[in-house]
Amino acid sequence: MPAEKKKTTTRKSLPKPLKKAPAKAAKLTRDEKYRLYLASVQNTQADIKFINREYKAIYGKAPKSLREDFCGTGLMACDWVQQNDECTAYGIDLDMEPLAFGVVNHYDKLSEDEQSRMKYINGNVLSKYDFKADVTVAFNFSYYLFKKRTDLLKYFTSVRQHMKKDGAFFIDLFGGTEARKELEESVKHKNHTYYWDCSKYNPLTAECLYYIHFKTHKDGVKHEKVYTYDWRMWDARELLDILEEAGFSKTQIYWEGVDKDGTGNGNFKKTLKAENCESWVTYICALP
Ligand SMILES: C[S@@+](CC[C@H](N)C(=O)[O-])C[C@H]1O[C@@H](n2cnc3c(N)ncnc32)[C@H](O)[C@@H]1O
Repeated sequence: MPAEKKKTTTRKSLPKPLKKAPAKAAKLTRDEKYRLYLASVQNTQADIKFINREYKAIYGKAPKSLREDFCGTGLMACDWVQQNDECTAYGIDLDMEPLAFGVVNHYDKLSEDEQSRMKYINGNVLSKYDFKADVTVAFNFSYYLFKKRTDLLKYFTSVRQHMKKDGAFFIDLFGGTEARKELEESVKHKNHTYYWDCSKYNPLTAECLYYIHFKTHKDGVKHEKVYTYDWRMWDARELLDILEEAGFSKTQIYWEGVDKDGTGNGNFKKTLKAENCESWVTYICALP
């Protein structure tokens, strides 16, 4: 994911580091790989705060049920049920590996009551389910894996069909002049460095290949290609059009405010006008 998710709108590009012969090291274990990801990428508290604020502004009440599509470890769904005893959540993912990590590292830490309100589903987001949620999210750009318009339309249509009358669908998206360049950004954390590497971009198909690498400071080893994303870069306007075609009656797009130094301040406002900056991350909300 672009580094500093939802914080930076005018991130400066970093020069590509000189390639050194990497030290040989043991592969990261499954747990190390997810811990490094969680410490670098997700900001579920900020996402939940934003959803609650927007849902309340639209419907005048707090949302109760959440469907987290492409949930990975299901961190957001587990955080959601901790808000209060009316909150329920479903996390859907095809892959048992992140789900298994999530069960041990997030779900097992919930109280018995919270656990009774959270359900992991090892399934496809395109399948039919017998529940509807107030809020559905597809975050960390996971829907970029649908490369064809018809496939994305199928997914958005399925979400629309699984929504309550007073539901809301939130997606995040990123872009900017730098998002379509072969470029590696890095963010240094206390014990590791996170790299977001745009390795290939095809201007004719908008397909892009991204990698996440991590350097662990204790041994100085850079673990290459820990995560791979073979995606299509979707444009904001195109997403709004496809959501409308999928049957959503209203869409709202947001833009992040900036601090004096030009970096994002975490404050997202509805708008249809924005500066064409180097790098941005934002949300769309679609209503049934
Ligand atoms: C970029 S990860 C995001 C995970 C999570 N949102 C997060 O930030 O940690 C994408 C996830 O989508 C899952 N996935 C891909 N296609 C899917 C599908 N059709 N249905 C359900 N999950 C899917 C993958 O297994 C992977 O865990």
